[in-house]
Amino acid sequence: MKKVQLLNKIAKAGLDLFDTSKYSVRADIDNPDGILVRSADLLKMEFSNELKAIARAGAGVNNIPVQRCTEQGIVVFNTPGANANGVKELTIASLLLASRDIVGGIKWINEQTGKAGIDKSVEKEKSRFAGSEIEGKTLGVIGLGAIGGMVANAARNLGMDVIGYDPYITVDAAWGLSRSIKRASGYDEIYKNSDYITLHAPATEETKGMFCEAAFAKMKTGVRIINLSRSDLINNRDMLKALQSKKVACYVTDFPTDDMVGVEGVIAIPHLGASTNESEDNCALLAVQELIEYLENGNIKNSVNYPDASMPHVGDSRICVLHKNIPNILSQISAAISAEKINIENMLNRSKKEYAYTIVEIIGDIPKITLDTLYNIDGIIRINIY
Ligand code: MLT
Repeated sequence: MKKVQLLNKIAKAGLDLFDTSKYSVRADIDNPDGILVRSADLLKMEFSNELKAIARAGAGVNNIPVQRCTEQGIVVFNTPGANANGVKELTIASLLLASRDIVGGIKWINEQTGKAGIDKSVEKEKSRFAGSEIEGKTLGVIGLGAIGGMVANAARNLGMDVIGYDPYITVDAAWGLSRSIKRASGYDEIYKNSDYITLHAPATEETKGMFCEAAFAKMKTGVRIINLSRSDLINNRDMLKALQSKKVACYVTDFPTDDMVGVEGVIAIPHLGASTNESEDNCALLAVQELIEYLENGNIKNSVNYPDASMPHVGDSRICVLHKNIPNILSQISAAISAEKINIENMLNRSKKEYAYTIVEIIGDIPKITLDTLYNIDGIIRINIY
């Protein structure tokens, strides 16, 4: 029986994929083989040697100690694109909330509870909540992955001029963009030209605090900023100053922090980007599929720390080796296996930056001596047998 620890509520559509005769899936479980998580903070969690994989039902992995997992041979999965439509739709709503005082207007209406003649008051007061339209305005999109790409295309369809920048854009993502979206040469071009800027980048050492005083100084006065990515991308102290000076006219954030609550110009949403039935189902389905495929066959799809590597399970046994991406390691792995006269049926090796993954399919069982030899090879992190 494989054990999966459930650290957040995950949609039933995904949980139903677990065969209950093979998996025990619970919150309170010791030494799990896999962890399923949404937003729980794992940064300080200790992982047992049994743990093989963590699957996050969502795109961001900043609640997971990815480097520590990599060094321990724990594969971390996410679900890129699975909630992209949900986040795209909330981004479009945010553009509209940032343009027209819908929030202020609704608040005012609710304050009129019990007062007679609301129909007359509305006509008298509505000018206080007037705004502007997004058509013809320039939207800068930072990050053109699954979500940013969809936002860029949708905004274009709403008549906005769209410029985008992503230093790590993939070929697939570039193909998915409307030809009328302008490719900026860097962040500065986005800052200089945009009436609205929306962020769709992960929180990394490179992006943390990127919206700081120096960045605001390059932006148009009255720029409206949408952040449905992560709070860490913003230097809050500088954002508060920019809001006060009206350099930033509006900041819509799906990641409120204490210092942003109730501040004039801030529209704070309680992390609802991916909180739709459809996104939750899609993320749960993908995360569980990834976890099952890895725990049962050692195949990797959508990992953030190890390379994608899949092949059909055709031999009697499968040796999966997580290792450093260093010279001569592959020949040592195959020599260790051949030394016991074992025939390699099929072999696959993939690398991702400094780490790599090798799957070896053999006929017959794996002798203990082979495993011991493999573990003695410099750079081998972990071996799983299927
Ligand atoms: C994401 O990273 O995709 C979202 O934060 C998912 C979520 O809302 O849990």
